[in-house]
Amino acid sequence: MGPIMRSITSRKPIFADPWPFLRGWCRSPVAVGWPLASSWWSAQLIAAAALRAARSTSGPVVELGAGTGPVTEALLQLGCPLDQLVVVERDAEMCGFLETRFPGLRVLQGDALRLRETLARGGVTSTCVTVCGLPMRVVPPEAAERCYGDAFTLMPADGAVIQYTYGLRSPLAPAALAALDLRASFVGREWRNLPPMGVWRYHKRAP
Ligand SMILES: C[S@@+](CC[C@H](N)C(=O)[O-])C[C@H]1O[C@@H](n2cnc3c(N)ncnc32)[C@H](O)[C@@H]1O
Repeated sequence: MGPIMRSITSRKPIFADPWPFLRGWCRSPVAVGWPLASSWWSAQLIAAAALRAARSTSGPVVELGAGTGPVTEALLQLGCPLDQLVVVERDAEMCGFLETRFPGLRVLQGDALRLRETLARGGVTSTCVTVCGLPMRVVPPEAAERCYGDAFTLMPADGAVIQYTYGLRSPLAPAALAALDLRASFVGREWRNLPPMGVWRYHKRAP
């Protein structure tokens, strides 16, 4: 993806039907993490960070754990072309909701923690930036490291993972950062989210 290609058409908050997300949380509370989707303000912060990082032309933006699509909506609204966005979500009802909400969007139903295999099944072999909404604080460290490792293998050297979290600290612990040779930068915190949302950017250390 190159620089932002579409002008911003609307910057008003958009509220999607909360029930599919709530049902998803009832089915799988640990994997979904919280019964409320990200707020419009958080989604704008996350999407803007992702599109700032999406400088290369070597593949689409990939969103992991798209839920019912607040961040997807913000990515599209802030200029990511529909054909340059791929989302991965494991909950079948949420995948159906995403397909209806964003006609034409590539929605891959599958396990984002097995990222390379899941993207390969959808024909995606390279990406330019990864937006991660998976609740990494409750994911076993080996699975989180594998997921991030795959994400960085698929991206160019200057690629980044934009991760959001309800925690105060980076969801990737210092040991995992060192093992993956990554640096973490704090993007910001959005207080208009229940609970407040922190956004982190992970990128490779300069050689
Ligand atoms: C914290 S919610 C974020 C949802 C949405 N992106 C938002 O900001 O409101 C986490 C999402 O990740 C999905 N998820 C959790 N584990 C997953 C996995 N291993 N593979 C794919 N999706 C997963 C959940 O179903 C849920 O929709």
